[in-house]
Amino acid sequence: MPRFYFVLTRPAALLVAALLLNACGPATDAPETAAAKPLPPIPPAAAPGDGAALAAGQALFAQNCALCHGADGKLGLNGARDLTKSNLNATGRTYMVEHGSASGVMPAFKGQLTDEQIAQVVAYSLTLK
Ligand code: HEC
Repeated sequence: MPRFYFVLTRPAALLVAALLLNACGPATDAPETAAAKPLPPIPPAAAPGDGAALAAGQALFAQNCALCHGADGKLGLNGARDLTKSNLNATGRTYMVEHGSASGVMPAFKGQLTDEQIAQVVAYSLTLK
């Protein structure tokens, strides 16, 4: 009875094939594996003072501050202070950038720059020596 054997075996073979395909399932498994991976810790360097933030600060300084202070902070145009000689710390500089100078010559940047951008440009200004 070879014919009977054949009839029984074929569905079984299909079932085995289906199970094998299902077990592989690479397309559905891959994203799950990636999502289950623990995220790398956020480096402390994400705060103002790290390389990327300083680069952003440098660009912001070139756009918003170099006009009066010079790219190196020493220009002193219209009475702008030489930033390389400033004794103001980050808090003092942040206040200055947010509110501008009392004389009104230096504009207030609050509203022009975000808090993060102000922190970045201040961090950069502190590197000017
Ligand atoms: C329109 C010109 C002008 C621009 C633009 C300008 N400043 Fe000034 N800045 C001044 C002047 C003028 C002073 C001095 C004000 C005073 O002492 O009354 C000053 C003072 C400062 C001081 C205080 C220094 C100290 O020791 O007293 C800091 C810090 C400073 N600027 C940072 C910046 C930064 C950062 C930017 C860009 C976001 C900027 N400034 C843009 C003109 C400018």
